[in-house]
Amino acid sequence: MLNDCSSTKKKGGIHIVKVITYGTYDLFHQGHYNLLKRAKELGDYLIVGVTSDAFDKNRGKLNVRDSLAKRIENVRKTGFADEIIVEEYMGQKIDDIKRYHVDIFTVGSDWRGHFDYLNEYCRVQYLERTRGVSSTAIRNKDSISLGIIGAENIVKRFCEEAKYVSGMEVTGIFEQAERMDFANELARKNELLLYADLDKMFAAVDAVYVCCPPAFHYQYIKHALDAGKHVICEYPFGLKVDECQELFELAKKKKLILLHALKTAYTPAFQHLISLAKTGMIGNIIAVDASFTQVLGSRLPIQIRIASGGSVNATGEYPLLAFIKLLGTDYHQVRFYSHLCEDYPVDGYTRFYLEYERAIGTATVAIDAKSEGSLTITGTKGYFYVPAPWWKTEYFEARFEDINKNMKYFYKFQGEGLRYEMVEFLRCIVTEENSVHLTQDETMMMVRVLEQYNQGERVHTF
Ligand code: CTP
Repeated sequence: MLNDCSSTKKKGGIHIVKVITYGTYDLFHQGHYNLLKRAKELGDYLIVGVTSDAFDKNRGKLNVRDSLAKRIENVRKTGFADEIIVEEYMGQKIDDIKRYHVDIFTVGSDWRGHFDYLNEYCRVQYLERTRGVSSTAIRNKDSISLGIIGAENIVKRFCEEAKYVSGMEVTGIFEQAERMDFANELARKNELLLYADLDKMFAAVDAVYVCCPPAFHYQYIKHALDAGKHVICEYPFGLKVDECQELFELAKKKKLILLHALKTAYTPAFQHLISLAKTGMIGNIIAVDASFTQVLGSRLPIQIRIASGGSVNATGEYPLLAFIKLLGTDYHQVRFYSHLCEDYPVDGYTRFYLEYERAIGTATVAIDAKSEGSLTITGTKGYFYVPAPWWKTEYFEARFEDINKNMKYFYKFQGEGLRYEMVEFLRCIVTEENSVHLTQDETMMMVRVLEQYNQGERVHTF
């Protein structure tokens, strides 16, 4: 059934045929141009819907390179669009077709069948796609080749997630004796070259992912930067302030990207949570409570638990991320209360307090205890509550004294969340700019807190 708003489609008694089409139009290419030209030829008036960044992220299209403004400008420059709108949500196409009294919906033949449900509202026409060109192919043309240093468990998930990130290809892995069997298996399953000589891997890649026990991060990052490679390093980034400072300075000198892979910092929901909290919606923020606890004993051998450095070293960066983003890097002091493991010499559980002039952050971290992994941001007018696991934020609530004002927010969290940090890494390399989602100053503050802990400053044990 066609919509029945034909009156608005007449101009001087002549029926104006309205056509609508949608796309991301990233790295504008000939295929886009041809499609828009033919779409315009289908009628008299062409509306082009350009996807917003948030909508693309939500539907799993994470690698878009051009900004929304640039993508709109490129569509405008073709001269084919009579009107350009932004596509922001699932289901918007039906709303637009009705609102703009559209006669024909069209997209390229790669979508054949996918939009048949719109036949209920207007005519659906698929146009032959231009062969041999796509935004993905352009992004892949200058694809970054990435090598992995180390074979911690998370590398398996990293390789799986990397498949969703266009413009980056994992090609090799380096591991010394320790976890050779696992490295072998990863190499086989993911078609990676297994290197025993790091310099040989450096010769074959543009960038590296450092994922080995934290005590070795410094030496490998330095080696990689010296070899001219961009680096993304798994958390905890580092344990010594002067070493990390030196690495950031080296990266700057060599014009290389050095990114701290703390995945939550790069996820859309967490970023939105922070922005909302900063609007003053819940008043002044006076307390942040964040917890990240695990019982590693049930699945990891004792050597690995010792190598993790204990609860603060292994997981302290997560609550610190929330404190830094909400309360800043300018804390006065930190106090730690640690429960030491009975059978090995690290903290199995620690609660720590990060004190600011007018606020406090309370963290609960554990590798040998379990409690609720939630995040609460307390303000003078209300609070945000993010249920466990808050570091994989998919949903949160703003709550107030007057419950009628409560709000719920939902997001898509793709896969394991590692793809967000990879996309950010790529974006930084391409734009030659450091990340604003987790700045080097912010990382340095995390390292400072871990160093204070490791030096025993205000550490109480029980
Ligand atoms: N399109 C086309 N021919 C191509 C590429 C795209 O006709 N070679 C059409 C698509 O079918 C769609 C519009 O252009 O109707 C916008 O597509 P978009 O998804 O933005 O472009 P792609 O190059 O397909 O992007 P990607 O590779 O990121 O999926």
